[in-house]
Amino acid sequence: MGSTVLCSIALTVLLLAAGAMASHPSCPATPPDTGGTLQVSHAFGPCSPLGPEASAPSWTGFLADQVARDASRLLYLDSLAVRGRAYAPIASGRQLLQTPTYVVRACLGTPPQQLLLAVDTSNDAAWIPCSGCSGCPTSTPFNPAVSTSYRPVPCGSPLCTQAPNPACPLNSKACGFSLTYADSSLQAALSQDSLAVANDVVKTYTFGCLQRATGTAAPPQGLLGLGRGSLSFLSQTKDMYEATFSYCLPSFKSLNFSGTLRLGRKGQRQRIKTTPLLANPHRSSLYYVNMTGIRVGKKVVPIPASALAFDPATGAGTVLDSGTMFTRLVAPAYEAVRDEVRRRVRAPVSSLGGFDTCFNTTTVAWPPVTLLFDGMQVKLPEENVVIHSTYGTTSCLAMAAAPEGVNTVLNVIASMQQQNHRVLFDVPNGRVGFARERCTAA
Ligand SMILES: *[C@@H]1O[C@H](CO)[C@@H](O)[C@H](O)[C@H]1NC(C)=O
Ligand SMILES: *[C@@H]1O[C@H](CO)[C@@H](O)[C@H](O)[C@H]1NC(C)=O
Ligand SMILES: *[C@@H]1O[C@H](CO)[C@@H](O)[C@H](O)[C@H]1NC(C)=O
Repeated sequence: MGSTVLCSIALTVLLLAAGAMASHPSCPATPPDTGGTLQVSHAFGPCSPLGPEASAPSWTGFLADQVARDASRLLYLDSLAVRGRAYAPIASGRQLLQTPTYVVRACLGTPPQQLLLAVDTSNDAAWIPCSGCSGCPTSTPFNPAVSTSYRPVPCGSPLCTQAPNPACPLNSKACGFSLTYADSSLQAALSQDSLAVANDVVKTYTFGCLQRATGTAAPPQGLLGLGRGSLSFLSQTKDMYEATFSYCLPSFKSLNFSGTLRLGRKGQRQRIKTTPLLANPHRSSLYYVNMTGIRVGKKVVPIPASALAFDPATGAGTVLDSGTMFTRLVAPAYEAVRDEVRRRVRAPVSSLGGFDTCFNTTTVAWPPVTLLFDGMQVKLPEENVVIHSTYGTTSCLAMAAAPEGVNTVLNVIASMQQQNHRVLFDVPNGRVGFARERCTAA
């Protein structure tokens, strides 16, 4: 309890600092975290707790950045889905191992040090930039030297063997590990300390204390891996939260609304539509669902069954991801949706920053898009389907196909299509739920 109180004081200081730096003068204070519920903020929105440098200078700049990030993310997820596949980076300067889109607050160590952690449903890792890390662009790293509860995980420990590429360097008894993807790599010391999230404390939280980042991998904040692998936050807190969580992601444009991440079974919505979670034994970190079709207006668009089918052998299928912003579909699925949207809107088509179905008029009547899952339909209203330019009159279909020349197998249902919905991940019961919800700050 004591550490929780201290953590909230530390967080107030962090928030005041972030508020003072924030680019938008009317950013409201983020409400406190309570129970198992954490406030979720958009990493690149106008009220980003990462500070003004995180928010884009212009709308078109933001879109171009985000589309490039999403493209890298898609290739990364696809490489997770398909064993042995690795893509060369297609967007230099992007974070390949992690795209933080939404962040929550937490406290690590004794006395507690405040942190921001990216919410990542497709990652098993739990890492934190630590003091002295070379190549970590973090202004507030975690300093293990001043935490009395910090412990390095020793080399002989069974935990060490669960880390990716564990290594025990000469003259060191501490377990180190590394991650490499394309031209980027991360090196960390496997560590344990006490982590406070909302009102709960995870006494011996195992994480990678980042010591070195090369290439374009360096994350500006920690990572809260919500995948199902053995070292993820979700697996480590199984006794507390029973591998169950839900979130409501706020629109990145909203100043007045923030979302929540609700951990555990308690307080979850009872009335919610669900679809079975599919298990890919090779890729436990990805949340696969069975998307069986897409409707534009009242019409189910013609998508070949093979473009949507789940195949654990090839990794093909549909995943839900919190770290991609705009839904990406395999080419035949995207083209079917896009063609029907264009047919319905019947206005001259233009393109903008990676989106190919834009209209230069404010009077477009956008058809709703309904995602059809096994046992569940999610009808997306305009705010989940259309991205509007902040100036002028252009609006675009906020989805895309895989980048040109790349043959990916994954359909990724991204955050823009999830925002202002409660999305429930119920691992013990093998299901994912969706319900409309305005993410109010209260
Ligand atoms: C936020 O809410 C206040 C009061 O409800 C309102 O005056 C203000 O315009 C809102 N700001 C935004 C950006 O929506
Ligand atoms: C959109 O339409 C307006 C008026 O018809 C025109 O002035 C403007 O150049 C157009 N913009 C684009 C991006 O096509
Ligand atoms: C997906 O749903 C369809 C329709 O209900 C069903 O025929 C198919 O077997 C399901 N696929 C998987 C992998 O569960």
